[in-house]
Amino acid sequence: IRNPPILIMLASKIQRRAFSASARNLSKVAVLGAAGGIGQPLSLLLKMNTRVTDLALYDIRLGPGVAADVSHVNTKSTVKGYDPTPSGLAACLEGSDIVLIPAGVPRKPGMTRDDLFNTNASIVRDLAKAVAESAPKAKVLVISNPVNSTVPICAEIFKAKGVYNPKTLFGVTTLDVVRASRFVSEIKGTDPKDENITVVGGHSGVTIVPLFSQSSHPDLSSNAELVKRVQFGGDEVVKAKDGAGSATLSMAMAGARMADSLLRAADGEKGVTEPTFVDSPLYKDQGIDFFSSQVELGPNGVEKILPVGKVDANEEKLIEACLGDLKKNIEKGVAFVAQNP
Ligand code: NAD
Ligand code: LMR
Repeated sequence: IRNPPILIMLASKIQRRAFSASARNLSKVAVLGAAGGIGQPLSLLLKMNTRVTDLALYDIRLGPGVAADVSHVNTKSTVKGYDPTPSGLAACLEGSDIVLIPAGVPRKPGMTRDDLFNTNASIVRDLAKAVAESAPKAKVLVISNPVNSTVPICAEIFKAKGVYNPKTLFGVTTLDVVRASRFVSEIKGTDPKDENITVVGGHSGVTIVPLFSQSSHPDLSSNAELVKRVQFGGDEVVKAKDGAGSATLSMAMAGARMADSLLRAADGEKGVTEPTFVDSPLYKDQGIDFFSSQVELGPNGVEKILPVGKVDANEEKLIEACLGDLKKNIEKGVAFVAQNP
């Protein structure tokens, strides 16, 4: 070997190339409930995401139809649709890195999210069983309401199947921070992309707690109207749609953002944080096993659950009110699986 330094340089160049080829993961993403109001625009946004390499779309109706449509969008990913033939759901899930679940019924005016429990609990339970069997290592993003109960339902099913990993189960609460930043920007005349509002708790009414004291507008914590608007933003859409459903387009955007954050974290990007409803140590001493706070994401899902941090007196009261409802919602989900395994 006459020129060892050149050989070393070449070897490291080849190594670097091999690394950059493998650094980008192949990412199969499945959507269960893909033909619905959320499912369709969510599938479209995922098709536009270059980190997604394979998109698998399942619904009890129209999965293959939506897939055929979305598959003509000229990005590289493959798209396949599935319907509930005996092996349809299993085939959709197999090899998935991320599974998004927007399956289930939406609210009509006058309903609370908890009123959806009777219908959606069993839908989510059955889908969770399928995930446990066919994609036990996938990161599961639960959108179906009531999120405060459907996430514990998934956890109980995964535990029963022996595949529960608290780092890979997420209730999607991204829409609450999306709304909070937009509403604040409307009041302050700012760009919503600069408004990072932390929202903690759960995803329904008073369990949604915006922490404006931690934002660049701490004065807003005493703006009761704004706080209420963030807590009940979903109702605004339900009322405006007048019986035809709830938020679908903004939710699709929020779900696609959460999926993208997980994909970026899986690709090795550091410092990716999102608010999300996870198995959390923050209020376990009060018997509350799931809580939404800022969570740092990593290749394995949850990397670090960030604390709620300093809150003011108004927010302390909001958290107090949140915890009572949240505990009941979580217990209801756990009891459902115990009684209807
Ligand atoms: P939708 O009725 O338009 O769509 C639901 C879809 O789920 C339908 O296509 C239906 O065929 C499908 N579905 C029903 N049972 C299924 C099953 N067993 N397997 C697979 N697919 C099934 O409703 P939507 O507006 O898309 O809302 C869906 C859910 O998302 C609702 O529960 C709603 O409350 C919830 N949601 C959550 C958030 C959030 O922030 N987490 C925001 C908006 C809506
Ligand atoms: C939302 O926040 O828009 C969703 O949870 C749907 C709903 O029922 O309000």
